[in-house]
Amino acid sequence: MWAEIKDKKAFEKVNKNQSVASTHRNIITQQSIGASVLSDRRRTMRPASFTATSLILYLFLFLLRRGTLTTGEITPLRRGFYAGVCPEAEQIVRETMRRAMTREARSGASVMRLQFHDCFVNGCDGSLLLDDTPTMIGEKLALSNINSLRSFEVIDEVKEALEKACPGVVSCADIIIMAARDAVVLSGGPNWEVKLGRKDSLSASQEASDNIMPSPRSNATFLINLFHKFNLSITDLVALSGSHSIGMGRCFSIVFRLYNQSGTGRPDPHMDPRFRFKLNRLCPVSGDGNITGRLDATPAKFDNRYFKDLRRQRGFLNSDQTLFSDDARTMAVVKRYSVDQKAFFADFVEGMVKLGDLQIDQPGEIRRNCRIVNNAPREETREAVS
Ligand code: HEM
Repeated sequence: MWAEIKDKKAFEKVNKNQSVASTHRNIITQQSIGASVLSDRRRTMRPASFTATSLILYLFLFLLRRGTLTTGEITPLRRGFYAGVCPEAEQIVRETMRRAMTREARSGASVMRLQFHDCFVNGCDGSLLLDDTPTMIGEKLALSNINSLRSFEVIDEVKEALEKACPGVVSCADIIIMAARDAVVLSGGPNWEVKLGRKDSLSASQEASDNIMPSPRSNATFLINLFHKFNLSITDLVALSGSHSIGMGRCFSIVFRLYNQSGTGRPDPHMDPRFRFKLNRLCPVSGDGNITGRLDATPAKFDNRYFKDLRRQRGFLNSDQTLFSDDARTMAVVKRYSVDQKAFFADFVEGMVKLGDLQIDQPGEIRRNCRIVNNAPREETREAVS
């Protein structure tokens, strides 16, 4: 998490697709998530209207829970949800992803990452895709996302194709889930059936994203605790981190570990010296933070190379290497996946399904354009289209 959660906004993550017992464990209040490191940077960025906004949101959620405001019920997710109403939906997503990845292989990784960043913040509701408006700062500007999340235009392309085939039927939240799965398959990873039927949110929150998404500096203990709050186990954490088997990261995300790990003025000791030498050349101290490096040695292929690299102390991010170097429990899982790709694939699929199950009870709709809510004022619609 980039910052401590300070406001009182109720933050219920309810996974209605799991057992009653696990649903109970999935109810997360912001306070329970909030026992984390407070970033000074975040504190200085907090807008003046923060308290008022929090109060309104708190009241809103309070009324929702008392049933004095109506909401769309959480629709139970299920496989083949669009079979009757848009039978070609999954095929359209797969083909559009194939075309996008032929144009640019990395777009698969970039789209897959969207599932993590959408689902951790108020559930999988497509909120991540909303552009900012004069009255709402969305998630695209959040610390983990700005200058980092990419390939939103691929989601637009999928949405456009789906709107042509079956207007107003397939949600943007579901598009992320299908496209993420297809990105994995098209990169050589496992295939699985996705559960669908999500609604798109009516708003987004930069603040919520800043409060929840983990920083690349995170250590294993922090990540274990964070994932636990979403009912995700140590195995889920390590398997899902294996998504870094594809894609790239920026120098911005690793300079601290190259030159000043934990304020020591020294590099992270858990780095192969030859690997560090290469990264030093790629990312000099005052170099361009937007230069990118591979997250593992085979960044276009979804395989278990990422785990082999971690064992050789060749992890790109601190949050990757820590899984092997700092905790015996995560280390055992890394070791297993490094010699058993099948086990990695099976656990990865389970983790992605659990991640996709995260939902909150909130009003929703099927957006016509993933970047804007359907009833946006006309000026906002014009801005998003241009
Ligand atoms: C465990 C906590 C995690 C942390 C701290 C983390 C952090 C990061 C960071 C810092 C980057 C590079 C961003 C940049 O430098 O611009 C990245 C890239 C990426 N992340 Fe994660 N991540 C985590 C978990 C996940 C999960 C669960 C998924 C997917 C299910 C995921 C998918 C990806 C992908 C595919 C990329 C490459 C994207 C691209 O090439 O555009 N990550 N992550």
